[in-house]
Amino acid sequence: MTTLTLNGKSTTVDADPATPILWALRDTLGMTGTKFGCGMAQCGACTVHVNGRATRSCVTPLSAASGAQLTTIEGVQADRVGQAVIDAWVKHDVAQCGYCQSGQVMGATALLKRIKKPSDAQIDEAMAGNVCRCGTYQRIRAAIHDAAKALA
Ligand code: FES
Ligand code: FES
Repeated sequence: MTTLTLNGKSTTVDADPATPILWALRDTLGMTGTKFGCGMAQCGACTVHVNGRATRSCVTPLSAASGAQLTTIEGVQADRVGQAVIDAWVKHDVAQCGYCQSGQVMGATALLKRIKKPSDAQIDEAMAGNVCRCGTYQRIRAAIHDAAKALA
């Protein structure tokens, strides 16, 4: 059993603490917004926030989130930064197939919480681990700049 705050609500998860957060979310809690891509911390599809930090949930055990604030794509818009990112994503029509996008939104939100007005280089560096096979990188960059402007 692991107790944590999931999207603002105290939650007890009945899973082995060694289980990756991704599988606790998807299989135990039925929350499928967080995606499985590579399972090796190489693609970013599974990105969630643990205490506000972008975290690859496929390789992070549930025990690492014990007592922590865990935020997923299902809860990120409760936060004004997350909402601004989602609004900018819609405005720029970022998603194509959509598979990588929950991870992209979580990565972008964590970036804008750390750096209010990131440069292109800072965006590229922060988002480098989030792979998009549809090649939406230019729109991701534009949407992050737009979200930063909206939050200023
Ligand atoms: S599924 Fe976690 S980084 Fe690819
Ligand atoms: S939108 Fe298709 S993989 Fe990124």
